[in-house]
Amino acid sequence: MKLIPCLIALLFIHSIVAEVTITPISSKNLSPNQNIVENQLPLANQSHEVVKVEDIVLVSQMDISVLVKVQVDKYGVAQQVAGFQIANPTSSLHGLALSAKNPGMVWITLETDNKLVLIDPVASSVTDAPKVIKEIDVPKPGNGPHYIGEYETDLWVSLKESDDVLRINYENTTDYNIYKGVPNPIFVAQHPINKMIYTSEDMSSKLMKINPATGETTQIDVDPSAGSTPVGMISGPNGIWFTLLGNATAGTGTFGFIDQDDKIVYHKLKSDLGKDAALLHLAFDVAYETNYKMYLLSSSITNPKALDMVIKVTFNEQWTTIKDEEVIVIPTQQCKAHRLLSTQFNVFATELTASKLLTLFSP
Ligand SMILES: *[C@@H]1O[C@H](CO)[C@@H](O)[C@H](O)[C@H]1NC(C)=O
Ligand SMILES: *[C@@H]1O[C@H](CO)[C@@H](O)[C@H](O)[C@H]1NC(C)=O
Ligand SMILES: *[C@@H]1O[C@H](CO)[C@@H](O)[C@H](O)[C@H]1NC(C)=O
Repeated sequence: MKLIPCLIALLFIHSIVAEVTITPISSKNLSPNQNIVENQLPLANQSHEVVKVEDIVLVSQMDISVLVKVQVDKYGVAQQVAGFQIANPTSSLHGLALSAKNPGMVWITLETDNKLVLIDPVASSVTDAPKVIKEIDVPKPGNGPHYIGEYETDLWVSLKESDDVLRINYENTTDYNIYKGVPNPIFVAQHPINKMIYTSEDMSSKLMKINPATGETTQIDVDPSAGSTPVGMISGPNGIWFTLLGNATAGTGTFGFIDQDDKIVYHKLKSDLGKDAALLHLAFDVAYETNYKMYLLSSSITNPKALDMVIKVTFNEQWTTIKDEEVIVIPTQQCKAHRLLSTQFNVFATELTASKLLTLFSP
């Protein structure tokens, strides 16, 4: 009984002062075609590489040698997470690569233990421990396996401690070669046309080309006027693509392409945030053959002032000219964003110091 006069009074006040209007808007205006979720991982100081097997994402945490299994939905949003000690806390789990010969199995590197291991991640259950299938010791004087990739019956591995590149036949491990590089081989990639092997050597700002048939190696300088510190390097449309990180105070927003005759073309980003980006890693869209899109990762890993960003780049059909750049600033800055992985529905990025796995998707 007492409430009624009070409500009438409130309605009356509202009707005479209401000039601020409130109306629902369509959800399209709320999220301009992309969402970002930063999935929390178990805490570690260094979350490095990332691969995906079925609906399980694997992340290597190097400082504590832990492999994290993250069960994700279609868009890469975590549903359940579990961590597994791989060897000892000091074994330095780093490299992760899918095996083509053994579908569903994953090659890992233990950088301090100097071992290459094939594991079954047991993707059917996030909480079941991965199983070891095969162990390979890195032949001496090779030391410090970092990147690993499977190419038919060979593994190609960068050896960060001894500054070498290793080729080893995983079916006959006495069949191997060690190629001497300069500090520090990081990524290894095979050219899709000339089939030569290339490695990025970050501290020397050089690229090494290896002819596996003759054993000949060639050092190629990164043009200092384009930038410095090649890190991310992958096989892609028409050749090898690599990023230039820059130094401790400046990025140059530049990445490179190596054609079949070793001619290098540098591409520089032009957008306000892209032009000084510190580019650490890159990935092509899974549909790059029809949409000409790639992703670049800018990272604060060596320059604390650099922004951590994912940059979507669209090329022309010949992959010679950038037609569009779209910059997405990672919500957690100074996370030393580390690696990218693109899937049909999303793009993942690991945040090295933030113990997070970012997913970027368009619902
Ligand atoms: C990260 O490193 C710091 C400094 O070395 C250490 O105190 C801390 O325990 C580490 N955190 C984790 C989660 O390992
Ligand atoms: C394994 O590789 C070594 C070194 O290349 C070679 O001599 C040997 O014949 C190979 N073994 C088999 C079974 O192919
Ligand atoms: C870092 O790179 C920038 C841009 O290339 C250059 O101007 C600067 O001199 C470099 N700094 C050092 C310490 O090499």
